[in-house]
Amino acid sequence: MDYTEKVLEHLKNPRNTGRIEDADGVGNVGSPVCGDVMKIYIKVKDNIIEDVKFETFGCGAAIATSSVLTELVKGKTIEEAEKITNKDVVAVLGGLPPVKMHCSVLAEDGLKAAIADYRRKKGAGGKGEGS
Ligand code: FES
Repeated sequence: MDYTEKVLEHLKNPRNTGRIEDADGVGNVGSPVCGDVMKIYIKVKDNIIEDVKFETFGCGAAIATSSVLTELVKGKTIEEAEKITNKDVVAVLGGLPPVKMHCSVLAEDGLKAAIADYRRKKGAGGKGEGS
């Protein structure tokens, strides 16, 4: 498998793995291509993603892309974070083999699902802003 140095580095040392127990949003997604699954947790304060973690039961590329994704979204506003696409993640990694592109899509989908869950909870009268 032709992984770049950057992919291998994230694979050996993934950032922000684990779960956030009191997360404000959780995205739980599965890839239709391979059946691998990923969960992204976000903690939001004043519209800023203060913390983000992931759990992935998937391949190496899924781990590397989620690791980069968490680095990209931390400290961003919700609106900035939802503009991040799998292409941004792949660019940071210096590319992915074509058969592994769907793994980066899983990371993007996981983030979008976490943001949607956050909005749903907030809209449902969850913890308001700034609490
Ligand atoms: Fe399924 Fe990578 S092979 S996420």
